[in-house]
Amino acid sequence: MSRQIVVLGGDGIGPEVTAAAVTVLRSVDRRFHLDLQFAEHAFGGAAIDAHQEPLPATTLAACQQADAILLGAVGGPKWANVPVAIRPEAGLLALRQALGLYANVRPLKVHEALLDASPLKRERIEGTDLVVVRELTGGIYFGRKAREGGAAIDECRYTVAEIERVTRQAARLARTRRSRLCSVDKANVLETSRLWRETVTRIMAAEFPDVAIEHLLVDAMAMYLVSRPRDFDVIVTENLFGDVLTDEAAAIAGSLGVMPSSSSGDHGPALYEPIHGSAPDIAGQGVANPMGTILSAAMMLRHSFAQEEAADAIEGAVAKAIAEGFLTRDLGGRCSTAEVTAKVVSLLEAHV
Ligand code: NAI
Ligand code: MG
Repeated sequence: MSRQIVVLGGDGIGPEVTAAAVTVLRSVDRRFHLDLQFAEHAFGGAAIDAHQEPLPATTLAACQQADAILLGAVGGPKWANVPVAIRPEAGLLALRQALGLYANVRPLKVHEALLDASPLKRERIEGTDLVVVRELTGGIYFGRKAREGGAAIDECRYTVAEIERVTRQAARLARTRRSRLCSVDKANVLETSRLWRETVTRIMAAEFPDVAIEHLLVDAMAMYLVSRPRDFDVIVTENLFGDVLTDEAAAIAGSLGVMPSSSSGDHGPALYEPIHGSAPDIAGQGVANPMGTILSAAMMLRHSFAQEEAADAIEGAVAKAIAEGFLTRDLGGRCSTAEVTAKVVSLLEAHV
């Protein structure tokens, strides 16, 4: 039975990094006989240019029928002045919401060979292995937006059900790891955060008594993440806090360019994408780091297709490429996107 993967390259470096990941997926397909089929669709700014909307109906329909979705990134200065409702980023929010992708899982593991690529001290970050579960379809990104006179309004709203379901996903993930969950909020100030903390506390006590739960305020967490990152296992937080904290966490990993993610809901296809954006400053130069997207493809094989061995093979090949110094500029190296991709493929083909 073939597996249908919709590829949404998007804008900027998006098409460059998704092409790299598809090359790697085709290579593992040859080795593990996964019968992967790829279909590219217009999305983001490129879709605005061609169809006057960031998420054309044909693209959404293809995503709904797919077995999994691989996404690059969207946005860029070219579309900075189009109306907010049809900005590339609005297409991404609409896609996440239409597919019910409420749990965005962002793992962070520090590679030995990248310890010096981080601005942080080696002895503080060595051995860091954490996962941030970011709520992805609620909160301030989806609330009412308005201009009233000289003021602007962004509404932040969370329902109990939205908090419960992401808490359950995070707690189940913690059970497969070190059984520790840290919930991040701003309960000393925000009403949504008070509801968040109450709900997490109740669900954990009733359904996950075996998982240790800790609550931290987001400002303190911003500090602990860089001062003692090894102390964390699974972190669950709301949409905006998760967005900010994971870019911060990228400093531990060495670069935004190496961080993968998965986004999933209760049913339907999951979506896999690097956590970085379209990086307009380096787009078209062939120097983008493809590792975050390649590692997202490995997450796809593991979570959407239960191909543990193929996923391990990709992750092993990326780790080896890093260890052998095949690094793009963001990690202090001199390799192009194509050189890093070719190295990963050659390691896969050599079965190392
Ligand atoms: P960004 O993540 O695109 O770039 C931040 C910095 O990291 C830049 O210096 C960039 O060159 C570098 N960088 C990012 N990914 C890299 C990679 N794979 N290899 C090497 N260097 C990399 O964030 P920025 O500049 O704030 O946003 C640019 C555009 O991307 C905006 O339009 C923004 O809205 C959009 N964006 C889209 C996202 C998505 O599609 N999921 C997520 C974040 C931003
Ligand atoms: Mg972000």
